[in-house]
Amino acid sequence: MNVDPKLGRAVLVVGGTSGIGLATARAFAKEGARVAVAARGTDGGARALRALAELGTEAAFFEADVKDEPSIERAIGATMARFGRIDAAVNCAGAGGDMMPLEQTDQSTWDDVMAINARGTWLCMRHEVGPILQSGGGAIINVSSIYGLSGRAAHHAYVASKHAVVGMSRSVGLEFAQRGLRVIALCPGVTATEGMRQAEAAFPEVVRGLVAQHPIGRMAAVDEVASTAVWLCSANAAYVTATAVAVDGGFLAA
Ligand SMILES: NC(=O)c1ccc[n+]([C@@H]2O[C@H](COP(=O)([O-])OP(=O)(O)OC[C@H]3O[C@@H](n4cnc5c(N)ncnc54)[C@H](O)[C@@H]3O)[C@@H](O)[C@H]2O)c1
Repeated sequence: MNVDPKLGRAVLVVGGTSGIGLATARAFAKEGARVAVAARGTDGGARALRALAELGTEAAFFEADVKDEPSIERAIGATMARFGRIDAAVNCAGAGGDMMPLEQTDQSTWDDVMAINARGTWLCMRHEVGPILQSGGGAIINVSSIYGLSGRAAHHAYVASKHAVVGMSRSVGLEFAQRGLRVIALCPGVTATEGMRQAEAAFPEVVRGLVAQHPIGRMAAVDEVASTAVWLCSANAAYVTATAVAVDGGFLAA
């Protein structure tokens, strides 16, 4: 019913070719799980496969765009064909969207952020629940953000999309609470991914200000977010569902 990665079960990480997703794929692999990664871009897929191969796990990459439902369906079908089961899925694909005041945000910016972060997560879940239930139950982790639980000026499209991820995780978690499938929104604070380091180089003041809002005084390491995802999928978190879990260095409390 719950996923114990040490049993060598199968995990799907959507958006697992870089940043938090790749760290999560690696963390599951270290626990002995077989790992399928689905994301855009075959170069990133090849890099992820090399990183997972170094850990000695059985891994697969399937190209998929969360904006394109058939590609998600194909990736999940291919994972089932390859591993025969899916015990947990981590939906990590996300777009930051430009930070823009309300009146300067055009519809295409809004649509793109919502299509990837909100509708993309919804589409992934829609196609993941069947295989997970067929595998005897498990967990879905949807990566939201501290901005799924709080606001930020001039970042409303991203904030809205991440609130949607929290809302749908709660609702789908309730729907499947008695059917052996747990659903949790994982809400990281600012995390030291390659993309965030590039943003820091380009806009040092902005990123310094953001980090300063985290009482712990630093960014999260990707492995600190990834290890929480692994724990949430394990039997140790069997009573955690239909909720949001923050890994935020105290951000929300402040
Ligand atoms: N880095 C942070 O500080 C931070 C903080 C809170 C939440 N998050 C969230 O964590 C998640 C991962 O962020 P990250 O910083 O590791 O990003 P990243 O850019 O390093 O990784 C994003 C991953 O998603 C994939 N992806 C992007 N668009 C896709 C699409 N349309 N279809 C399929 N795959 C797609 C990319 O190929 C990549 O594998 C995102 O949802 C992001 O909003 C990040």
